Amino acid sequence: MAIERTFSMLKPGVLQRRIVGDVLARIERKGLKIVALKLMKIGPELAATHYAEHKEKPFFGELTGFITSGPVVAMVIEGDDAIARIRGLCGATKVENALPGTIRGDFALHTGTNIIHASDSPESAAREIGLFFKPAEIIDWKDEIGAWL
Ligand code: RTP
Ligand code: MG
Repeated sequence: MAIERTFSMLKPGVLQRRIVGDVLARIERKGLKIVALKLMKIGPELAATHYAEHKEKPFFGELTGFITSGPVVAMVIEGDDAIARIRGLCGATKVENALPGTIRGDFALHTGTNIIHASDSPESAAREIGLFFKPAEIIDWKDEIGAWL
């Protein structure tokens, strides 16, 4: 078990559907710690850099088009094994495999609009945190809850 930081993002549609609080509540309830959070609109360049690993995929245009189509909520989450824990909360990428009880399983009807992104490895987490946040935007606040988790 190691304390990790990971990047997560509520995709376009979450703000419009007024479910930002519902999704953030699940992350908080798990005991993970939000250390950075902001509302932003992603431009085409950042979208292409963020999703560079998918640039040869047939859905790349749809993916970058969607992620730039409205405001997103970007965040840095900290906690024990945070990278895997957030991916677990999100559920499977494809909505047909995303189980009820997961964020995608409960809130998403289509894979292309699966409402939340989360870094998939320590390397991705470091890269994506650096893409979306300046070091000064990440707050290292004292956490008193550890013994209760
Ligand atoms: P994300 O990067 O958004 O956290 O999702 P992920 O790791 O679970 O999935 P990834 O393979 O990185 O795919 C990125 C996003 O592309 C869309 N996608 N569409 N049409 C398709 O077959 C397909 N496959 C992936 C999804 O919105 C996915 O979240
Ligand atoms: Mg991914």
